[in-house]
Amino acid sequence: MTTRVPMFETPVKTTATHIYPFFMPSHVATPDKAARFTSEMQRRAKRDRETLLYIHIPYCLSHCLFCHCGRTTLPGGRSATEVLDEYLALLYKEMEIWARAGAVGNIRYVHVGGGTPSLLSVEQFDGLIRKLKSLFSFPQGLEINIEGEIQTLNDEAKIAAYSQLPISRISFGVQTFHEPSRRICNLRPTHADILECVDRLRKHRFAITIDLLYGLPGQDMETVEADLRETVRLKVDSLDIYRVNLYPGQFIYEKYAKSHPQMLDERLKYEMYDRIIDHMTAAGYEHLTDEIFSLPGGPYGALKEGVVRSGERRMDMIGMGAGVFSICETMCAKSSYLEDYAKQVTSGQLPLQLVYDWTEEDEHTFMAIRGLCRGFTVHKNDRFYPGFEARYREKLDRFRQHGLIAETADKLILTRSGKLWHQNMILEFLNAKHLEGMRFYENVRFAPPPTPTRPAAQV
Ligand SMILES: C[S@@+](CC[C@H](N)C(=O)[O-])C[C@H]1O[C@@H](n2cnc3c(N)ncnc32)[C@H](O)[C@@H]1O
Ligand code: SF4
Repeated sequence: MTTRVPMFETPVKTTATHIYPFFMPSHVATPDKAARFTSEMQRRAKRDRETLLYIHIPYCLSHCLFCHCGRTTLPGGRSATEVLDEYLALLYKEMEIWARAGAVGNIRYVHVGGGTPSLLSVEQFDGLIRKLKSLFSFPQGLEINIEGEIQTLNDEAKIAAYSQLPISRISFGVQTFHEPSRRICNLRPTHADILECVDRLRKHRFAITIDLLYGLPGQDMETVEADLRETVRLKVDSLDIYRVNLYPGQFIYEKYAKSHPQMLDERLKYEMYDRIIDHMTAAGYEHLTDEIFSLPGGPYGALKEGVVRSGERRMDMIGMGAGVFSICETMCAKSSYLEDYAKQVTSGQLPLQLVYDWTEEDEHTFMAIRGLCRGFTVHKNDRFYPGFEARYREKLDRFRQHGLIAETADKLILTRSGKLWHQNMILEFLNAKHLEGMRFYENVRFAPPPTPTRPAAQV
């Protein structure tokens, strides 16, 4: 097979796929900023803005060593039911605050993420859905998607009862089927457990998404291909596949990257991604965003629809729970972590930690990252497009010249080569302030993006 990599001579040493670039200490949610955020959300709710409601359950049974999600393991000495009941009571207080403020628009999707939402018992899930219905207006047939984890999904009675709730789609992390990598990463379920989980969810008619990772310790091209073959064999409705985000200070980086050099070999990861696109598209999956492959007509996923497409300004996202984001056209906010979260909601305040007003430049960055690099398209009829084109003309011209983006009368599209290079394009679209914000947020360090030295081999 001829590989399309390298397109450039120098791959970057470190890339970051986390794009939460806007949070810095200066954006602390002071009372006036919190009030401004609330009144903006009220104004939008009155205009019936389409809204994705993201609900966060920040607990897991165990710690997968690569994980960068906002989560914590269940505290010892207490039952899961007790811990989750306590958390849900706080979450309900938060929901009541949003409802009293009249700040939630027209809910189009609900995504329950984590952490591990499938830790919730059937009664707890049922209670959560009832609470939502009692406070907010739900359209008929509202789609609720949840994230799960295999150890908490391998229970026939529980899944049968889940299937009686209005849950349409369950996603869960396989990460890799390769047993040695699974053991290193503290992924406890076996291959047999994964197969059982897929069978059980399918039996109860859930749409299934699995998450895979590439760049884990112990993985190489062969094991990644074996993971893809197994995924296709299982005919999951969609696949979310992530390149492992690594950064100094992270446990798995410090402990394994030195003895597993492929974890830091960016060129190998480009080659893996290239192979992933070929494999999944040849198997009939559509490549919907940088990380998502879906069978035609399959579920795109509420969260991705809301977040990725909100790059095209289609939907507001309201995050409820500890440590989550709310994003609309004009502002974004992040809620506090558990301890402060509890204090704030108990005293009747929205649990805001950080609040930020988008500038026009941020809009353009968001368009570039969410629209072009992740969702593959920027629409020229977007009201921010003229400014976007003007701001990035030099960059866009260079990307066109290198065959990374193509153009039609009404849109800019990321090409096949652009898809491979999109992580580096993302870095190019971030300004100093965004990079500063990312360092604050995730302690991510960057190598500067390389200069293209020769044109892309194939578009
Ligand atoms: C928000 S997590 C929660 C999902 C759920 N608890 C589970 O394990 O399936 C969703 C996915 O993020 C991905 N992820 C976690 N840590 C990552 C990292 N360091 N780099 C890239 N992706 C990561 C994993 O594939 C994980 O399944
Ligand atoms: S179960 Fe999911 S959220 Fe929890 S640590 Fe593992 S990957 Fe992260």
